[in-house]
Amino acid sequence: MTEPAYDLLIRGGRVATASDVFDADVAISGETIAAIGRALPGGRREIDARGKLVLPGGVDSHAHIEQLSAAGIMNADTFESATVSAAFGGTTTVIPFAAQHVGMKLPQVLEDYHALARRGAVETLETDLPALIKQGHASIKIFMTYDRLKIEDEPLLDILLAARDGGALLCAHAENHGIISWMVKRLLARGYTDPKYHAISHARVSEAEAFNRLIGMAALIDQPIMIFHVSTAEGAKVIRDARGQGLKVFAETCPQYLFLTADDLDKPGVEGAKWMCSPPPRRVSDQEALWLALALGDLQTISSDHAPYRFDETGKLRAGANPNFKQVANGLPGLEVRLPLLFDAMVSKGRLGIEKFVELTATAPARIYNLHPRKGSIAVGADADIAIWDPQREVTLSDEMMHDLTGYTPFAGRKLRGWPVTVLSRGRVIVADGKRSVEAGSGRFLARTGGEAAKPTGRLVADMDPERNFGARLL
Ligand code: URP
Ligand code: ZN
Ligand code: ZN
Repeated sequence: MTEPAYDLLIRGGRVATASDVFDADVAISGETIAAIGRALPGGRREIDARGKLVLPGGVDSHAHIEQLSAAGIMNADTFESATVSAAFGGTTTVIPFAAQHVGMKLPQVLEDYHALARRGAVETLETDLPALIKQGHASIKIFMTYDRLKIEDEPLLDILLAARDGGALLCAHAENHGIISWMVKRLLARGYTDPKYHAISHARVSEAEAFNRLIGMAALIDQPIMIFHVSTAEGAKVIRDARGQGLKVFAETCPQYLFLTADDLDKPGVEGAKWMCSPPPRRVSDQEALWLALALGDLQTISSDHAPYRFDETGKLRAGANPNFKQVANGLPGLEVRLPLLFDAMVSKGRLGIEKFVELTATAPARIYNLHPRKGSIAVGADADIAIWDPQREVTLSDEMMHDLTGYTPFAGRKLRGWPVTVLSRGRVIVADGKRSVEAGSGRFLARTGGEAAKPTGRLVADMDPERNFGARLL
């Protein structure tokens, strides 16, 4: 008897990449995709994918896992629960952050974080400051707001320069801290304490102002940047203008800004705290502007910004049963529902289509964060990270069906069409028929360099005035 040609064959599915959709079998040997073709010879094991879509596993490039909030509250999830929940939603690679609060020593933060990450079930990648770039932490997230995390303009210039020297991408939470804290103080002083005032405190202008300031500083140093969680039409326009000038500015948005609005925070009592994140969800007109920005390429990726806090004394209600909005931890769970929400909107309802869905949720983040071609596509030689979707399956999201430890989803009650029924990570089935089949600790840390996205353009703004050319001397 002849040996089967492959370890696993996904037979008869419809494969989609960021550029093409075609009927094909996908053969896997070991951890990688060995062949894509029609009527491929049998595998040791086969998965019948007739009537299904075979897509790359999602790459979620911005999530907070086992991280302390600005106020020192621990996220609800462990690495294990977060990555398992990601897998149930079709995501196989996650980029979380080791948070260095004021006063913490960076190497210790990273060492502790690696120890936690070893419990992860899918691939993980952490990022932090320049000294660690060489060890494979090739992107850095900075905060321009939050009391214990924010960075002022001058040290931000130092970090931009360090990122440039190390070849890392600088990612930013860009909101104007002064505007927000001024608004917070005035709102609280007048008795406006409910969660809905959180959205008002993050005045729209705080986003565009910080984007402009950050873009200006990045241009001065010629350092590529990634602007996280864009929420407003004005913010998207700032990015469009910067890219139009040839500046290397990348940007993402998140499902909460495409599917929620500030009205979701307006619930009886403190219930609205479950919908509190920063920046806050905005208006329907912002949702439309963000969809347009995604269509035009102004925004290149959609991450979850998973930041889960339980609705109890360990999380959102740490300050008591009746906190004011300033006392509530910011963030929503989203690793598991990111892809199903977007599949329903983009594939089932046809907004931008399946290739764009694959691009925004897997291929583009893999490219920008330099994980491509290993991650983010269905291609011979790529890791066999695959989500097989049933495009007809109808699911109503509920708190109970989530696999993270938050205890709720802000999207409960939504009816979606399309669901990832089988999920593979490096050739192993990790979720099938609603059941997990992977051990804790089977995920891997992905060390990486900054890659193409993090390379400077070579056009220093400081050098553009030849009479007073101090650029080369200052940087
Ligand atoms: O509200 C949010 N997004 N919390 C998580 C931390 C951050 O700002 O990204
Ligand atoms: Zn942020
Ligand atoms: Zn975040």
